[in-house]
This record gives sequence, C-alpha cells and structure tokens, in this order.
Amino acid sequence: MKHKPNIGIIGAGMIAGIHLDAFLNTHGANVLWLADVDKRVLAEKQKKYNIPYCTTDYRDILGDDNIDAVIVGAPPFEHFDAAVSVMHAGKHVLIEKPLVINRSQMNRLVKETAKHKNLVILECSARHTRLQPKFHFVKKILDNGDIGEVYHIHHNHLMRRTFIEYNPRGVWSLKKSLAGGGPFLDWGVYDLSFHLGLLNDRPKLAKIKRFARNGIKIFSNPKIKSDVEEHGAALMEFDTGLTYYYERGAGVHCEVPNETRIFGTKGSLRFSYTTWDSPDIEKFWVNKNRVEKRTVYKVDMSKHPGDDPALINHFLDCLARKARPLMPVALAAKHLDILFQILGR
Ligand SMILES: NC(=O)c1ccc[n+]([C@@H]2O[C@H](COP(=O)([O-])OP(=O)(O)OC[C@H]3O[C@@H](n4cnc5c(N)ncnc54)[C@H](O)[C@@H]3O)[C@@H](O)[C@H]2O)c1
Repeated sequence: MKHKPNIGIIGAGMIAGIHLDAFLNTHGANVLWLADVDKRVLAEKQKKYNIPYCTTDYRDILGDDNIDAVIVGAPPFEHFDAAVSVMHAGKHVLIEKPLVINRSQMNRLVKETAKHKNLVILECSARHTRLQPKFHFVKKILDNGDIGEVYHIHHNHLMRRTFIEYNPRGVWSLKKSLAGGGPFLDWGVYDLSFHLGLLNDRPKLAKIKRFARNGIKIFSNPKIKSDVEEHGAALMEFDTGLTYYYERGAGVHCEVPNETRIFGTKGSLRFSYTTWDSPDIEKFWVNKNRVEKRTVYKVDMSKHPGDDPALINHFLDCLARKARPLMPVALAAKHLDILFQILGR
C-alpha cells in the first residue's frame, strides 16, 4: 500500500476508544469511519476523536472505496458476520477477540479466510503476548536451553471482579450467546497465545481433564443474570509430551494474581506475563555444586509503546507489507478450539 491506509472501525465502545488513542500516536493511518448501532456512543466518539464519517450501519463503511482496512471492534456475537462482510468487500481486517462465539462460526471463518490470501487478516490476541517484551525475553531463555526441556506449564489467574464490572456498558459479556463465554474467551485467547507461542506453536492438544462452572457470582443488581462460566481449569496433555495446568476465573470468591510457571529439566521460570505487572522474571536453577539458585531478571519495558499501540503498529506494518500477521485466524482458531474444549463444548 503506497498511501496512508484509510481505516473504518465497527463498534464505538471501549476498545474503539483504546484503538483511537493508539491511532492518535501514529501518523501512519487516517481513521475515516466509525460505526455503532448506539447513536449516543457514536456521537460521543465522533466528537472526541474528530472522525469525518459515522454510521449506524457498518455496510456504509464497506461501500466506501476509499477504505482500505476495517477493525471489527463490536461485541463477539457480531464478529463473524462483520469479519466475513469486510473480507467480501475486499478490505483488510483486524478482528477483536474472541474471534467468534462458537465452533461452527470458527470453522466457517477459517475456511472463508483461506479464500482471501491477498488480504491482511489479523486477530488481536498478539496484543498482550507476542508483541510485547516479556514474551521475547522468556522465549529467548527457552530457546537458549537455559532451563532445559520444558515439560510443564502452570498458569492461573482468578479475580472476584467480572468483565461487566470492568466495562459497565459491556452487558453482552455476561451472556454465552453474545460473548461466547466468560474469562476463558476473554483472557484465554491471550494465555494460550503467550504460552504456546513460547513453544513455537508446535504442541497439539491430545488429552484434557477439565471443569468449568457458573452461578458463583451474585450481582448486587438483581437484573443482572449471567450464564457464562466464572471458574474453570484444565489439565492438558499435548502430543509433544508437554503438560499444562491452566486455571482462570472472574467472579470467583478468591483472588489469585496472574502467574505463569514454566518447568524445565534444568530449571524453571515464574512471572506474570501482563505488561502492567512486575517486569521481574524469576529463574530457579541449580549450579554445578548443586546449590539451589534464584536469579531475577528485569525485562526492559521502557521502549514498549503499550499493548494496543503495539497491535495497531503491527497491523499498519502488515498493511505496508513490512510484517506478516503474528496472529492469523487459523492460529487464533487453534487456541479457541482448546478453550471450547475446556468449556466442554
Ligand atoms: N474493553 C476492552 O478493554 C477490550 C480489550 C480487548 C478486547 N476487547 C474486545 O473488543 C470487543 C468490544 O468490546 P468493548 O469493551 O469495546 O465493548 P463495548 O460494549 O464497550 O462496545 C461495543 C460497541 O459495539 C456496538 N455494536 C454492537 N453491535 C454493533 C453492530 N452491529 N455494528 C456496530 N456497532 C455495534 C455497541 O453498541 C457498543 O457501543 C469485544 O470483542 C471485546 O472482547 C475489549
């Protein structure tokens, strides 16, 4: 693409604001269009970000020949139709997570994507994972063989808060039919992107023992009813011999901070992968005199532009053909498939 790409955004809610902030800090694109079914939200964002064109029907964006690429930032139940329509209109697309809300949509989207090899089609879960310094720091330790062969990953994160308490407008996040699921579809896409990416995306799931349940959280507002999972866990076995214990919860009666432990035959690592947590990566190992050692590395986060700006920059690099999508639909679907299995679907 020779000119600055012209962008349209579908959905003008919380994530649209985060993307628009990221675009303010790049000179690499023009955001021309914003679509939202809610006129109030649309007017708010149009004024704040000075967007030339707004619509309540995203097909208006697709009909504009000047638009090169579209971000699908509506709630998950809209992702499938919107993403397919964008591809049919011949425009590049960045799709918010989770990719879609069920297995049938997932399989159809993978097939559809394969028909549009000329388009840049990126799913967003590289945002907190492959596009930030902690991922590359940890991957280098593993690639160098510093902790030997990785045989087990342990990851957990439990919160008392649910997604709607984070984004009070996101009522959709409580319904399976609208969100696809709870914390596993909200954050699982990042967890798997980080952990399996460290192992070059090679491991394939072979066996799983799992649980997922809801009905734990009682909201103070009696009108709020949720049918998404609140707590779940899985012990997974992969074809490479790797085992992975993975637990997530939102709306659980316990707080457990985000923590990954990676166990190798020569040592292990412990850290939180999110960029806003401590930059420390702890390594546990034994020296040649068999003395137990603990080394703490500090990842340099100073040059990281922020997770969403990194995603937008990556999308623009893909549009300029300077990079290939770090999270193609087929890989995002592999992660989603594992998450559906954890949810027993
Ligand atoms: N909020 C975050 O921090 C965050 C972070 C990462 C990813 N996401 C993802 O972004 C997506 C949106 O989340 P959000 O937090 O912005 O939700 P939100 O509820 O704040 O905003 C979504 C907006 O989409 C609009 N919408 C619904 N149907 C539409 C349609 N057919 N056409 C146009 N607009 C439509 C809604 O009216 C709403 O304003 C979700 O997939 C979510 O998982 C959100």
